[in-house]
Amino acid sequence: MVRDELEPKGEGEGKGKGKPVRESSVEMVQVVRPQDANALGTVFGGTVVAWMDTAGAIAAMRHARRPVVTASIDHLSFLSPIHIGEWAIIRAAVHYVHRTSMEVGVWIEAENPLTGERRLTTHGYLTFVALDEQGRPTPVPPVIPETPEEKRRYEEARRRREVKLRLRRELERA
Ligand SMILES: CC(C)(COP(=O)(O)OP(=O)(O)OC[C@H]1O[C@@H](n2cnc3c(N)ncnc32)[C@H](O)[C@@H]1OP(=O)(O)O)[C@@H](O)C(=O)NCCC(=O)NCCS
Repeated sequence: MVRDELEPKGEGEGKGKGKPVRESSVEMVQVVRPQDANALGTVFGGTVVAWMDTAGAIAAMRHARRPVVTASIDHLSFLSPIHIGEWAIIRAAVHYVHRTSMEVGVWIEAENPLTGERRLTTHGYLTFVALDEQGRPTPVPPVIPETPEEKRRYEEARRRREVKLRLRRELERA
């Protein structure tokens, strides 16, 4: 039986005042070395996922100022490979907060160090849950989307959560 782990328990009941997205956003730069790459000279998928998980967790921890765990990787698109010698620019931002959980969006661009040319290579959404001193889920502050882009992402993340819940209920009934 599917547990009601994703059941809404009061959106916006997060602890304390809200925090703008910009206060927790992350940008990391990773130099792509031969040990990161496969025989084709492009980065291993698992390495890319580890970078995304790290950047996402930092954004979630900055937002919550609590330890967090990765609860799920909700979506992941590998759009183009990243090559040895390129820089991987990894950005993460909190899209949406429910009560103890946060959806974080992560994007990776590959940058040519000589020309500065960039292309989007990877995109994903991950859900992190904040923990208290006993290791139990604990409420986090609401997130405040300020720009039109942040507002759009907030609304999309809220709807993704609803769809995920509905699908789980339907599968449970089937
Ligand atoms: C994630 C975890 C803390 C949730 O614990 P739980 O006892 O099921 O917690 P609850 O049912 O009270 O749910 C707490 C929150 O987690 C969310 N959640 C739980 N399981 C989830 C899942 N599989 N995907 C997305 N969100 C999930 C719930 O929606 C809830 O969010 P809300 O408070 O914002 O509404 C627990 O399942 C866990 O520790 N998982 C292992 C994490 C891990 O080891 N990650 C890899 C290394 S960091």
